[in-house]
Order: sequence, then structure tokens, then C-alpha cells
Amino acid sequence: MADGAKIIDGKAIALECQERLRPAVAAFAARKGYPPGLGVILVGENPASAVYVKNKELACKKVGIASFHHALPATASSADVAALIRKLNEDRRVHGILLQLPLPAHIAEQEMLRSINPAKDADGFHPVSAGNLAVGAPTYVPCTPKGCMVLLRSTGSAIAGMRAVVVGRSNIVGKPVAQLLLAEHATVTICHSKTRDLAAEVRNADILIAAIGKPEMIAGAWIKPGAIVIDVGINRRADGTLCGDVAFADAKRNAGWITPVPGGVGPMTVAMLLENTVEGAQRYDE
Ligand code: GUN
Repeated sequence: MADGAKIIDGKAIALECQERLRPAVAAFAARKGYPPGLGVILVGENPASAVYVKNKELACKKVGIASFHHALPATASSADVAALIRKLNEDRRVHGILLQLPLPAHIAEQEMLRSINPAKDADGFHPVSAGNLAVGAPTYVPCTPKGCMVLLRSTGSAIAGMRAVVVGRSNIVGKPVAQLLLAEHATVTICHSKTRDLAAEVRNADILIAAIGKPEMIAGAWIKPGAIVIDVGINRRADGTLCGDVAFADAKRNAGWITPVPGGVGPMTVAMLLENTVEGAQRYDE
């Protein structure tokens, strides 16, 4: 297929998802007298995290969700973060809690995630949410994997029976997206830094989810003709421009469908966070 890939327009799909939330947000606010709310915690000065959090809060504002911004200095202790989480757990205006990762190295990340009330776990990172996802019980689904599935479905392809290869095994993307693909009856392989022959695994993929965090590490020649390529990576090249984990220009020649970077998965993460916040408000504040 010469240069045949169709582009999966994550930006447009994310906007549609956000627009669909607007009436639900307005109805909730009219019924309760206050809107769905997201508590946001940003610890330290990571510039990428600051941008992500700003985008999430702007998107909240656009659909009418209240966001409550809490910035803690890089010197904050685990006890400081835990105290803030406790406060948000008890705040009736807050239906979802976003603890932006990564945290400074001295903070006990898993302990912090565990201290979030699972009923407010809009990011789906609490072990209770991860466990529910693993056994197929209803739960908060992590935003980036949930967004990947919306993008996959937007192609109209039947996922059942497809060979899906996930590159990356993080708790945020790789593991949960593999669970979601499995739930849709794909045959799933998870690859990582110790995988012996990554190219050979990728060549088998009808669906490729790249979530490695290494600029253009997946060569275009590895992509199976007609494959659906979802690129979760957002990397900065030496010249300052953004690129994904997949060598886009070359991959586009082989793939059937491909997400761009930027404008693919990134906007979906934001839209799914809003969706989870509204779902949480509807489920737990009645
Ligand atoms: N860091 C990178 N992605 C995410 C995300 O989806 N949520 C949070 N909280 N932190 C992140």
C-alpha cells in the first residue's frame, strides 16, 4: 500500500467526545447546584507535566467541569501529598482526583495512588481499579488506554481475533491497554526492553500500540501492510519538534491507519479524563 494509511484524527475525535459531555455536565449542575469537579495535584516543576495539567484544566473549563488546582513544591513530602489527597477525598465538590505523574523521586508513588478514594480514581491508577480492569469488572479505565480504544474503534475494524502488539509495559499505558485489547478478543503480545526481536513481533501486528517513550524507535519497514498503528509516544527531537515512538513518514507507507503525533492519542487522554470525571460524578454523587 503506497502511502496509503488513513490518518486517525485524535484531535477531532477528542473534541467530539468532549462535546458529548457538555449536556451531561449541564444536567448534573442543574440538578445538584454545583458542577462535576476534578481535583488536580501537580508536584514540582516538570515542564511537560505543567503543560499536560494546563491542557486538562482548560478542557474542564470548556465543558463546564470545575477544576481545583493544587500545586505543591518539589520539596513536598509524601505526607504533604497524602494530606492533600485526604482533603480532596473528603471534598464533596471533587468527583475525580488527578495526581499528575511522574512525582519527584522521593515521593512514594504507589502509596499516594493507593490513598486516593477508588470512587474518585478518575485516572484509574488505584490498584482496585487495575484489579477490576483485570477481572473485567466495571471500573475507571486509565485515560490513555481508554482513548486508544476509542481511536481503534473509530477505524470501524473488527478487533476480535486480530493480533495486537503492545510495545511498553507501564502501569499507565502498556498493561491496561493490553487488558482492554484482550477484553475485545484480540490476541495480545506485550513487548518491552528485553524482547529479543522487536522487529519480528511488530511485523506480526494487525494492531500496533507503541508506548515506549523513545523517538521514532519503531521503523516504518516493520509495520505490517494495512496495520492499525496507535502511537502513544510524545518525544522531543534535538531540534525541538515533536515526534512519536513510530517513524511516522515511513510507517504511513505501510499502515492502513495511523495516529499522528501531535494530534493523535494526546488529546484523547484529556477527553477520557473528563469523561471519567463526569461518570464518577454521576455514579457517586446522586
Ligand atoms: N503522566 C503521564 N500520563 C498521565 C496520565 O494519564 N495521568 C496522570 N495522572 N499522569 C500522567
